[in-house]
Amino acid sequence: MSPNALDRNLARLTKLETHANVKILHTLKSFNEQSILPLISNNLSGMSISSKKEFQMAKEASAKHIHLYAPAFKEKELTGYIDDVQSISFNSLGQWERFKHLGKQTSKGLRINPRLHISIPSHCNPNLEESRLGIGTEEFLKAFENKSQNFEFLEGLHFHALFQSSVEDLVLLLNYILEHFKEVLPQLKWLNLGGGHSFTNIYYDIDTFVKNLLKFQKLFPNITFYFEPGESVTKGCGQFICSILDIVQIAKKKIVILDTSIETHLLDIAIVNMKLKVKETQSAPTPYCYELTGNSCLQGDIIGQYFFTKELHIGDQVVFEDMMAYSMVKMTEFNGMEKANFYLDNSNFLENF
Ligand SMILES: Cc1ncc(COP(=O)(O)O)c(C=O)c1O
Repeated sequence: MSPNALDRNLARLTKLETHANVKILHTLKSFNEQSILPLISNNLSGMSISSKKEFQMAKEASAKHIHLYAPAFKEKELTGYIDDVQSISFNSLGQWERFKHLGKQTSKGLRINPRLHISIPSHCNPNLEESRLGIGTEEFLKAFENKSQNFEFLEGLHFHALFQSSVEDLVLLLNYILEHFKEVLPQLKWLNLGGGHSFTNIYYDIDTFVKNLLKFQKLFPNITFYFEPGESVTKGCGQFICSILDIVQIAKKKIVILDTSIETHLLDIAIVNMKLKVKETQSAPTPYCYELTGNSCLQGDIIGQYFFTKELHIGDQVVFEDMMAYSMVKMTEFNGMEKANFYLDNSNFLENF
């Protein structure tokens, strides 16, 4: 990981916090390397967690504000730490009914599924009609109107509806909230607008972000805005470096076997067949076409076909770019594979993501 690149991202996120008067919480499920969390914690307003284990990590990193959300909670575990988190969102009206009386000092909210029509790959689109993540707007509003006494403790609403989104999608979400939640907004103390924001992309329009957030806060000055980005915190901050163990030729295909596996280090490929960014490759054909594969016994352990700019040899490194978010946290030891080592690279890292 490049601390310089992380500093650059954190500086950008801090700028957003200051200029738009919002709070940014790092989402631990995307990246939880213990040695780096205190740096993130020092710079941002807090952390967003999903379990007791993540609570302990956030505490150790001295997170200032801890927000807890999971699709469902185990009562026995939740009672052990709900008092120590500052805010929590429940995912369903059933969970709200069961747990709303716990954690007297903890600010409580509900996750809503706004079912926005925006373009997101379906495996990670929380807006789907049939999604289990969050309460549909109509269902919530009906319950709120019919039994408002059930919601007297409700202090927040949580919308995680975006994915690698530009500010235009965020504006869509803000307008949606203003249009549909008029009756609820006056009693709220916070809105959590989830993750999925490309905040650290150099093309993210910070001015439009600031303008729209300040406009909303003018209408509802008692509402604090939280964002809980994952991917954008460590975007462009680190590579995953593998070595070539063997190159076998089957018919005309050159197959490279790496000291990794999609099951152990590159789970996103296994789940969604994602094409990764590999150093020294290009999209146009070259004479150096290789199929990159893993070293497990799974026939489908195939990373993909890439056009390299030079010939590869046993012992060479193959470098996967921008691999910090969601890869370190998902590593397994399947097939006797070892987890990847994490190390800091202090050289100047100047890529523009
Ligand atoms: C509820 C919630 N909040 C925040 C995030 C972080 O999203 P991202 O890494 O896209 O910013 C996720 C990711 O799945 C999530 O489910």
